[in-house]
Amino acid sequence: MSNHVVINKRIENFSKKIEVSSDKSISIRTILIASQAVGTSKISNLLESEDVINTLKTIKKLGINYKKIGNTYEIYGFGLNGFNLKKKTIINAGNSGTLARLILGLLVKSKFEVKLVGDKSLSKRDFSRVIKPLKLFGVNVDSKNNLMPIKILGTDFLRPIEYFENIGSAQVKSCLILSALNTPGITIINSKKSRNHTELMLKFLKYPIKILKKEKFEKISIQGLQEFKAFNYVVPGDISSASFFIVLTLLSKKSSLIIEKVNVNPSRIGIITILNKMGAKIKIKKKKLQNGEFVADIHVKSKKHLTSVNCPSTLNSSAIDEFLIIFLVAAKANGISRFKDLSEMNKKESKRLDLGIKFLKLIGIRVERYGDDINIYGNPSLVLSKDFEIKNFLKDHRIFFLSCITALTLGGKWKINDKDSINTSFPNFLKTLKSLGAKISR
Ligand code: S3P
Repeated sequence: MSNHVVINKRIENFSKKIEVSSDKSISIRTILIASQAVGTSKISNLLESEDVINTLKTIKKLGINYKKIGNTYEIYGFGLNGFNLKKKTIINAGNSGTLARLILGLLVKSKFEVKLVGDKSLSKRDFSRVIKPLKLFGVNVDSKNNLMPIKILGTDFLRPIEYFENIGSAQVKSCLILSALNTPGITIINSKKSRNHTELMLKFLKYPIKILKKEKFEKISIQGLQEFKAFNYVVPGDISSASFFIVLTLLSKKSSLIIEKVNVNPSRIGIITILNKMGAKIKIKKKKLQNGEFVADIHVKSKKHLTSVNCPSTLNSSAIDEFLIIFLVAAKANGISRFKDLSEMNKKESKRLDLGIKFLKLIGIRVERYGDDINIYGNPSLVLSKDFEIKNFLKDHRIFFLSCITALTLGGKWKINDKDSINTSFPNFLKTLKSLGAKISR
């Protein structure tokens, strides 16, 4: 079967209400945290994408059962470290950095060695960021050059640590919070700001976790070895998936879109702040608290005149997965947009900073790069008519999404490979586009 799509036509104007797929970060966390709870947790609206299915397979391998009943997954937990581990267990995290980093945190007390592997993209990603602090807890972790495969063997002699997490990585922070659950005493993580779903979920479960907001850091204290009960949870929509539809609407003519029930956690909505600085006028409506997270409808309309942005790097972590699509808006905006300190982008499913720049140049946009800073020279009259083929991008789902949105808003004749990458985070991506009238063929 062909694994590409062809787009030869821009999308016509639309005015619709949609929902996007459920949040990936939250879906993975609900499963992992439910695996440590006492009793049956019930999670509805779980994202059924490859990263999340690999998370379900992982807890199953570790001896935790689950069952799908209607739209709800039941997960049967036995409390902290309630795994039933077999010798020589191998966990395959597939494409998911989040699963790989977070599961290491739950294996700090494992009786047997567990081997962690992943796909080609994940096997290129650096794990020193979690291996280093895990060793401080007293865990045995073994890997060549901090790359996969990683072997982890837990210990009964865990010691609490105080750690400075200065990358601003929620994966590192969450790995350490999960490690702290099984560690006696109080673990302290001084963490540069990043998405805080793990903290909010534990707070929602009344777990003893304290967060003290400092100017640049958050001081997170976790009391270890406290059992918590199973829970019910409804997973909201994913702002990262919504972002492609926000930009599709902004850059299309005479269109409007309401994206319902999206997670609008302040640590995730950098894209809205940045696009509104560019003149987008995106609105968040019907905001309510659901299971400790804010959920709302996002309203967006086409915008003829967008202006460049000088993006403060303090917004980087709250938009880290959205920069590719933000770059496309910068390409159509009037003026030179500046983005700084984007080194983390190159540590994702592909080297997104390098590929983002390559992509912009491919569509005729001038980009200057100074280390991890870039300047994008916007061209409001940019229209494409040439043939484009997008291939060899390590099957990075977000590059596939970016290419489709570019084709549908700027024109040109596009062949976009690695269609299957959508299964990582947003299996219904093409269906949702078609529901807005997009013409996409194979
Ligand atoms: C994620 C955190 C981010 C993000 C990733 C998902 C998470 O990575 O890029 O897609 O669920 O914790 P970092 O925390 O490494 O920046």
